[in-house]
Amino acid sequence: MKQYAAYAQLIEHRQRLSHHSICELFEQQPDRFERYSLQATGWTLDYSKNRLDDQALATLLGLAEQTGVLSLRDAMFGGQPINHTEQRPALHTALRSQHTAPLEVDGQDIRPLIREAQQRMQRLCEQVHNGLWLGHSGKPIRNVVNIGIGGSFLGPLVVMQGLQNFQHPDVNVHFIANIDPADMLVTLNQLDPETTLFIIASKSFGTQETTRNAEACRKWLQNHGVTTPDLAKHFMAITSNIDKAVEFGIAADNILPMWDWVGGRYSLWSTIGLPIALGIGYDRFEQLLKGARSMDLHFCEAPLEQNMPVLLGMLGIWYQNFWHARSHGLLCYSYHLRSFVDHIQQLDMESNGKNVNRLGTALDYRSGAIIWGGEGCNGQHAYHQLLHQGNQLTPVDFIVPLRSHSPEHQPQHGILVANAFSQSQALMQGKSSLQITDELQAQGLDDAAIEALLPHKIIPGNRPSNSLITEQLTPFSLGALLALYEHKVFVQAAVWGINPFDQWGVELGKQLSDTLLDRLQHPEALADQDSSTNGLIRLYKSALDG
Ligand code: F6P
Repeated sequence: MKQYAAYAQLIEHRQRLSHHSICELFEQQPDRFERYSLQATGWTLDYSKNRLDDQALATLLGLAEQTGVLSLRDAMFGGQPINHTEQRPALHTALRSQHTAPLEVDGQDIRPLIREAQQRMQRLCEQVHNGLWLGHSGKPIRNVVNIGIGGSFLGPLVVMQGLQNFQHPDVNVHFIANIDPADMLVTLNQLDPETTLFIIASKSFGTQETTRNAEACRKWLQNHGVTTPDLAKHFMAITSNIDKAVEFGIAADNILPMWDWVGGRYSLWSTIGLPIALGIGYDRFEQLLKGARSMDLHFCEAPLEQNMPVLLGMLGIWYQNFWHARSHGLLCYSYHLRSFVDHIQQLDMESNGKNVNRLGTALDYRSGAIIWGGEGCNGQHAYHQLLHQGNQLTPVDFIVPLRSHSPEHQPQHGILVANAFSQSQALMQGKSSLQITDELQAQGLDDAAIEALLPHKIIPGNRPSNSLITEQLTPFSLGALLALYEHKVFVQAAVWGINPFDQWGVELGKQLSDTLLDRLQHPEALADQDSSTNGLIRLYKSALDG
């Protein structure tokens, strides 16, 4: 990234703009909102409250151009093996495409595969929703339990929570993810085994948490009288490892395919989305795909300066690489988006948490940001203090649906929206020593008291934020939002020159856990680890000895 002319120019722009506050930029440009906001796919991005002017923005977009973002984008959509360390394409966009022209992977046109899988999903939904899928005792399925973790869990979770107002009346969707038995027990304790369908969602069918949970849920069914032949009525699998699913005992007809050319964190659009379709209906799942498709088209067609994923991605790079921000916050002013950050954490940090470029050379600049955040207004009473008076730059995105799904409660929803807008304004404006002095004097404090208190009450302001606004959270608008962040992550990876589609870093922990599990479970096991780990193992064993 540093070799491009735009990089050096951006360092100069940052230096220049460090002497100008965001409020000053608004004074210079009264129409700043009109100049630094854009609409696409039902979303408005207001990026006016940034430490940015026309020159810096043009140079940021120049960096995107010079680093080849658009040609890499076309390579991704075109099915090139851009996930080069796994020799795979990344074709999550094909899952929501309506193109019919052949799209080949390893010589095979994948479009018929996608269509067939979607038709199977649709038939499964019809069976369950029409009460035709019966459990071992002849009762229709009423509860679907997704057993999966990471990308086999978070995307469907976010969508099911996000679209709670579109829930199918007869089907409840639950999620078991963690190996902590409490996660499973909390769910099983509320379920009737006769009306429960488990979906084992695992691309590899080798993730320890998922396979152990699946075994425990199978035992739960058997403990409730479900005999082996009837297990097929209560189990499905979504995986690319068909053999291991059959080995587990899943009927071949109950296995939906996943493909290597879809990364786990990009897979909610695939058969991994079955719990979504079962939970909200296949038609609405198609609306979700349609929203993502419209963002894909926008990403592919909009000019750089009007391209929402490019702008969001480059603004992140502006702060991460030129203003030395270390993290990026997502403040979702919607109860239904309370888990949105969890999914974007995996999407962003598992994609861009890399330290070498595509050639394997160590990066001499920062790559993926630490993504954090949560639900507004709750965050205002938790971590906003640091945003307002901390001493590190922490850019944030406000994500705000404007209309409640309960019209009678719109006035209360309006309070939520007012809070989002006021927090964004407060971060920009802050509160000056003059304003605070006037306030304290009006409260009757003497000069000494004011002098002592003043530095503690000043709010620096000049803190950047983006606002992403949509009229209402719907399958379409949520699909577009999720695709927006997928493409934001892609843009940043392209500029940083990294591969966002592999995740070799997660392998070591999995390998070590197998060894340590052995040491934990066998009293006579050798204390052959480092002294910390040996000490921790001893603690576990003594805890069990009571
Ligand atoms: O965290 C590693 C990872 O492989 C993720 O990329 C993936 O989403 C998750 O584990 C679950 O993997 P699988 O779907 O193969 O069980």
